[in-house]
Amino acid sequence: MKVEVKNVSILDVKADVIIVNLFEGVKVPAGVTGIVDKAYKGVISDFVIKKEKFTGKYGEIYKLPITAEGKKIIIAGLGEQKSFDYVKLRNLNAKIIKSLKSDDNAKTVVSILHGAGIAGLCPEGCAKMITEGVLSGVYDFDKYKSEKSENKVKEFIIAETDKEKYKKAKKGVEKALVIGEAVNRARDLINDSAQYIYPETLADYAVKNSGVKTTVYNKAQVKKMGMNAFLAVGQGSVHEPKFIHMEYKSEKAKKKIAIIGKGITFDAGGLDLKPPSSMLTMRDDMSGAAAVIETMRAISILKPDIEVHALVAACENMPSGSSYKPGDVIIAKNGKSIEIDNTDAEGRVTLADALCYAEELKVDEIIDIATLTGACMVALGTVASGVMGNNDKKIKEFIENAEKAGERFWQLPMYEEYGDSLKSDIADTKNTGGRNGGASAAGIFLSKFVEKTPWVHLDIAGTAFLDNAGSEGIKGAQGIGVRSLIEFLTA
Ligand code: BES
Ligand code: MN
Ligand code: ZN
Repeated sequence: MKVEVKNVSILDVKADVIIVNLFEGVKVPAGVTGIVDKAYKGVISDFVIKKEKFTGKYGEIYKLPITAEGKKIIIAGLGEQKSFDYVKLRNLNAKIIKSLKSDDNAKTVVSILHGAGIAGLCPEGCAKMITEGVLSGVYDFDKYKSEKSENKVKEFIIAETDKEKYKKAKKGVEKALVIGEAVNRARDLINDSAQYIYPETLADYAVKNSGVKTTVYNKAQVKKMGMNAFLAVGQGSVHEPKFIHMEYKSEKAKKKIAIIGKGITFDAGGLDLKPPSSMLTMRDDMSGAAAVIETMRAISILKPDIEVHALVAACENMPSGSSYKPGDVIIAKNGKSIEIDNTDAEGRVTLADALCYAEELKVDEIIDIATLTGACMVALGTVASGVMGNNDKKIKEFIENAEKAGERFWQLPMYEEYGDSLKSDIADTKNTGGRNGGASAAGIFLSKFVEKTPWVHLDIAGTAFLDNAGSEGIKGAQGIGVRSLIEFLTA
C-alpha cells in the first residue's frame, strides 16, 4: 500500500474516498472541510450536521454515499479541540482505514492533514500519526487462515496546499512508513506461535531481518561467557538457548546505547507452572525481543548518529526433568548469587545476565524492555506501560520521547523497601518475594545487575498483547515499545 503527501487541493485529487473532519460542536465547517462543504453544495453543513445530527464527537465516522463524480465523502469526528492529540489522531485513522479495508470502492483515499489546521499540531507529527494509523488500520494477523483478508485500499494520499506544511508532512510520512512497518513486523513476530518461534528461529529471524551486524551465541559459548542465570532458565526446554547481539554504529556516533529485549519465546512458568488461563498467551513473552529487533531494522534505515547494541537472551521457560528448581542457587555473570524462589519469575533472571553483558560493553545508557510482571498489568492495566530505572533524568527523557511517539509510559517507584522481600537466607538475593508491589520488586531485582550505567527499565506486561481489540482496533500483539524506542534513538 502506498501512502504519500501531495501539494494539491483535496478536490484536485482523483480518489474514491475523501476524508475530512469536524471538531465537536462545529456547525459551520471551516478550513478544508469548509472548502469541501462548499464544493458539494453545503452537504456537510446542511445535511450531515443539520439533518443527520453529526456532532463531531471523537471517533464518530459519517460516510456520505457516492457523489455525482463517484466519490465517497467521510466526515470524521475529532472530539473536543482542546483534548485532541497525536494518539487520538493515529487511532482515528486506524479506525477509518479498518472500515474501508474491505470496501470495493475505496482503492484511492485522499485525506485532509487532520490536526495541522485549527488544532495547531505540528504538520510533521500529524502526518506521521495519520500514516501510522493507516498502517495499523490495515494490519491483520492472518498467516494461518485459509481465507486472507485482502486490503482493498491501495493508495492513501494526504492533500496539503500549504507548501511549508506539505514539506513537513512529507518528512512525517517518510519516517512513519519505516516506523509503522517496524510495528507491524513486531506484531507478526509476537503473534506467531511458540511452536515456530523458539530461540533458534528467533535468532535466525534477527540475523535475516535486523538489518545490522548480528552475532548469535550458542549454549556452549554463553556458558563460557558466564551467563549461568540465563542458561538456568532455559535448561528445562528441548530448545537450546541463544544469545543475540545486534550492532548498529554510525560513523558520527557520540553516544553508545544498549537496548535489551526480554526474549522468553514461551513462558509456561517452569516447575512453578502457570494455570492454563495465564499460560494461554505466553508466546507474547518475547515482545521485548521483537521490539528491539524491529527497532534495529528501523534505525538501520533511518540512520541516526549513534551506536546501538541490541541484546536478547532467548530461551523457553518449560517444566521438565532438567528444569531449574525452586531453591536452586545460580551465579549470575557479575558473580552475584540468585536463589530461585519462583521459576515463573524467569524474565528477570535472564535479564540479569543481559544487563551485566551490556555493562561490559561500556555503553552510556541501557534500556530494557520486558513483559516482566503481572503486577505491572494490575497496577496500570492495558492503558500504560511501567517505567523504572536508576536515573530520573533518563526516565523523564524516555517518557517524553514515548509521548511524542504516541505511547504511554508511567513511572513506578523503586523505593528500597520494595527490595526487602528479596532477601535470601542462602544467596545474595532471591528472584521474587511477596506479591505486593511486584513490578517495583522486579525493578529492584534488576537494579542489582546494573552497577554504574544510567538505566531505564520498561515493563510492558500489560500493554504488549491484548485479548480484546485496543484503541488502535487491534487484538493480540500491539508492537508496544517499537515507536518509543525509535523515537528515543533518533531524537
Ligand atoms: N511473563 C510473565 C509476566 C506477564 C504476565 C506477562 C502477564 C504478560 C502478561 C512473567 O514471567 C511472570 O510470570 N511473572 C510472574 C512473577 C511472579 C511469579 C513473581 C507474575 O507476574 O505473576
Ligand atoms: Mn514467568
Ligand atoms: Zn515471563
